[in-house]
Amino acid sequence: MMTSCASLSSRRGKRVIFIALFLFSCLLLYYFAPHIKERALIVTSQGCATFIKKPQDQPPLEPPMISPDRFPTVFPDRPKYDPTTVTKETRLAAIAVHGFTTMDQLYLRNGTFYIVTSNQYGCPLLENIIPHITISPETSQFLEDVNTHPANEIRLITPQQAAYILGDRVMGIEGLSVILYDTTMMTHYYHWWGEIILGFWRAYSVLDLPKTSSLYWPSRFIIPFYQGNKWRDRADIDGPLMKSAFPSATIESRDYWNDLLKLDITIVFQRAMIISRHVTQKHPNSKIWPKMIAGLMGLDVHERFWESLRVVLVRNLVGSLPEIDEVGKIISLEHETTIRPAITYISRQNGGRRLTNDSHDSLVEALAKLEEEGVCDVRVAVMENMTLNEQVRLSATSTITIGVHGNGLTHQLWMPSSRRSTVIEIVYPGSTDFDYWMLSQNVGHKHYLVWNDTIKTINPHDKVKILDGFHDNAIPVHGEAVANLIRSLLRET
Ligand SMILES: *[C@@H]1O[C@H](CO)[C@@H](O)[C@H](O)[C@H]1NC(C)=O
Ligand SMILES: *[C@@H]1O[C@H](CO)[C@@H](O)[C@H](O)[C@H]1NC(C)=O
Ligand SMILES: *[C@@H]1O[C@H](CO)[C@@H](O)[C@H](O)[C@H]1NC(C)=O
Ligand SMILES: *[C@@H]1O[C@H](CO)[C@@H](O)[C@H](O)[C@H]1NC(C)=O
Repeated sequence: MMTSCASLSSRRGKRVIFIALFLFSCLLLYYFAPHIKERALIVTSQGCATFIKKPQDQPPLEPPMISPDRFPTVFPDRPKYDPTTVTKETRLAAIAVHGFTTMDQLYLRNGTFYIVTSNQYGCPLLENIIPHITISPETSQFLEDVNTHPANEIRLITPQQAAYILGDRVMGIEGLSVILYDTTMMTHYYHWWGEIILGFWRAYSVLDLPKTSSLYWPSRFIIPFYQGNKWRDRADIDGPLMKSAFPSATIESRDYWNDLLKLDITIVFQRAMIISRHVTQKHPNSKIWPKMIAGLMGLDVHERFWESLRVVLVRNLVGSLPEIDEVGKIISLEHETTIRPAITYISRQNGGRRLTNDSHDSLVEALAKLEEEGVCDVRVAVMENMTLNEQVRLSATSTITIGVHGNGLTHQLWMPSSRRSTVIEIVYPGSTDFDYWMLSQNVGHKHYLVWNDTIKTINPHDKVKILDGFHDNAIPVHGEAVANLIRSLLRET
């Protein structure tokens, strides 16, 4: 072989070598190109690779199948905290996604956050943590003293600079502090629970890893932009629900913040998650689904991540946790079991956005027929006539929830997840929104839109479409169409 190679004319030899090299590099490129691309992502973003997570193009259409084993609900105690110097470096505690950033050892002085690090490239872009907020007229109604500086600045400094800028006195604030920046939508059940808290819990649940879990319950929520109780929703259910989910956590508003500033010392948070609605909107996923949680959908979290919080809230409020079996029957609520799955129709007929009278009647009638047939138990709920406790109890024992698009459906957060658990959202025909589809994706429910007599499943690439009539009081629904959907859902095994 050697001799025959050597005897080739040098021109032909060069050509063969050239072709061989060419083929070999094609092969190399073919093999490594995807890795090179991935690598580039990681290198350019350094430690932020964790934070520039590729948006997931295709979120799962089907809700996750829930395995019967219960989700662990015991979390570790947080480590003992004893801050001594300002030279201890800040670190990212979890993957940071636009608008959801969890950091250990985050400093605060005179209204400015400081990230102390000797590796500045390892830090997320500061504008992806908090924005420079311009105070709009809508915002200023919540603020009595707009001119005292809110915490709208974050800076990166080295440990050497820290000694100089932050001084040598430091006061530690223990535990997890969740710092909320939302100057527009916060005072609303859906936007508080379905966006801020659900997003918080999804972002935080990346720490709930087997064996190395460092997820501990939050100690406080801080809302620097809102005075007093102005963060509360009109129906005032956000606050009480926060108490049952996080019994020992306080909700602190602007006074607390100003008190910290007046101390004129350096504060260090043992762990802080900064959440900014404004920044979440910069994530590419937000172009597809205009929801705060959109950017978090690509995060790897336990498929039942929400269950840990739901279990705590329901247990605290209802006294025990109703569990349902795979066909939707309640099996473990003390003194109360059912032989059929329960469905709840949340009536909004006293509210603004609602069904026509005829539609409401046709729905109630069709549901009553289902009950007569023995398919399910039917509850028609007027939430505003029930205590919060009763409302959560109802949701926690429902297999299917039906309602016109609106806050009442936010209660699906307390509904268990099973193969049959479903939310049926009635909207003005032709309209599409992602609000409750998004909740369903996160908490493990099926979701359907009803356009009068047409049942529709949402495709993740659908476009939001809010037609005239969406918010009006004359939404039609053909009761029989909803009843047929329920029949088929409850027949499936
Ligand atoms: C604190 O911040 C305010 C507003 O940004 C500034 O005017 C003031 O000089 C700062 N004080 C100190 C001691 O740095
Ligand atoms: C619908 O029913 C309500 C309450 O029963 C009644 O006050 C209202 O006038 C009805 N609306 C129409 C358009 O019939
Ligand atoms: C709910 O309460 C309102 C006002 O208190 C009352 O008018 C209405 O009849 C009640 N509705 C039901 C279904 O109980
Ligand atoms: C709703 O569907 C029913 C049954 O198909 C139909 O009779 C009715 O006209 C529809 N209503 C509207 C407003 O489209």
